[in-house]
Amino acid sequence: MAVDLLLGLQWGDEGKGKIVDVLTSKYNIIARFQGGPNAGHTLEFDGIKHVLRTIPSGIFHKNVINLVGNGVVIDPVVFVKELEGLDQFGLDYKKNLLISRKAHIILPTHRLLDAASEAAKGKAKIGSTLKGIGPTYMDKTGRNGIRVGDLEMHNWEHKYRALANKHEKMIAFYDVNIQYDLEELEEEFFQAVRQLKELQFIDSEAYIHQAQKEGKTILAEGAQGSLLDVDFGTYPFVTSSNTTAAGACTGLGVPPNKVKDVYGIFKAYTTRVGSGPFPTELFDETGEKMAKIGNEFGAVTGRPRRCGWLDLVALKYAVQVNGVTQLMMMKGDVLSGFKTLKVCTAYKYKGAQIQHLPYNIESENVEPVYTEVKGWDADLTGMTKADQFPKEFNDYVAFLEEELQVPIKLVSVGPDRKQTIER
Ligand code: GDP
Ligand code: IMO
Ligand code: MG
Repeated sequence: MAVDLLLGLQWGDEGKGKIVDVLTSKYNIIARFQGGPNAGHTLEFDGIKHVLRTIPSGIFHKNVINLVGNGVVIDPVVFVKELEGLDQFGLDYKKNLLISRKAHIILPTHRLLDAASEAAKGKAKIGSTLKGIGPTYMDKTGRNGIRVGDLEMHNWEHKYRALANKHEKMIAFYDVNIQYDLEELEEEFFQAVRQLKELQFIDSEAYIHQAQKEGKTILAEGAQGSLLDVDFGTYPFVTSSNTTAAGACTGLGVPPNKVKDVYGIFKAYTTRVGSGPFPTELFDETGEKMAKIGNEFGAVTGRPRRCGWLDLVALKYAVQVNGVTQLMMMKGDVLSGFKTLKVCTAYKYKGAQIQHLPYNIESENVEPVYTEVKGWDADLTGMTKADQFPKEFNDYVAFLEEELQVPIKLVSVGPDRKQTIER
């Protein structure tokens, strides 16, 4: 069977975790293909809320295999804590959670390097989650990394020591004040590695290939969002992996001609956490209202998320880069009670009006051009069928479909699994 992809189309936190969980009953395998514990994917059902970091969001479905693909970077310390968080739910993760031998390992010194790099950048900092993501991917492409498969080799600790020593020199080179006790960090790290080794490590690309041959259904779960993609995002204010559709091919070993549906997920407005340009950002009480109603605080760092209107210029770009076949709109409920909604449909750029995302989207280069649409008052959170939606909400969705030329097949009206409506 072909593989379907689920990808965030904005700057992350679109609600990927919730939707993967909702869709999991249709799949045999859920596979994460990039990113690492910089992600925070929230699931809510039966009155519980759970935030997953590296573990795929299908984990609560007992008969589904959850695979951490080769494109992911794993911090054993965070991973083991995540597993401990799952213990109370009686999940058999030794059976249904698989880890690619080719996934790279985040070392304690990668985290320290992340902090040192950010401190050295000062005001120009990326606003990284400080989970060591950038330095780990740098070691991957620099061909210095330690992979999950290495943990099965007898000499891996030598390799570890050589790399950690090098990292310590690099940290000193940054000449910033980073306090750490490496011995303590290592004790925690090696303990976590021992626990990680109790899980199943596999040759994941062979596993995926075989599963496809057997007709198994696979959903690839993206982390972050298209505008954080290292190639296509708002560089340098991005993460260090390919968050877009192509990343699922390299992050799992799935050939491009085996990808079927590409589910693109977006919020009915826009948020961003960390630094970087954000043309439709609001600095007024409208933005504050969105943040408050939408409870826009980072699932990983707790940082407040910046909020603004929906940006169709950026969204169209994400739809194109990913080849999105179906859209899913999240958090429509948050916009209830706004008299008028604005949607950015073009940018003013160098004296002209443009409809594509240019190289420079900083506020000094682009000014959003808005189309205003009528808002709605009704509370959407209790609605269970599309025919209950107010006319203005349907008009908003229809307007977006017309602009994006892709159907919005699903809308979400609250954080719970059940607050999900197919159209
Ligand atoms: P992810 O990183 O894409 O999985 O998204 P996050 O979990 O970081 O952030 C999405 C947040 O919005 C979480 O707190 C979800 O519980 C919440 N959420 C998801 N869908 C909806 C929705 O339709 N309405 C509301 N109000 N909250 C939602
Ligand atoms: P999910 O999967 C939102 C942002 C950080 C920072 C930049 C680089 O939950 O949507 P990194 O730690 O990757 O070096 O940080 O990317 N960022 C995210 N923002 N959601 C995420 O993941 C993010 N992962 C990274 O805030 O601006
Ligand atoms: Mg998140």
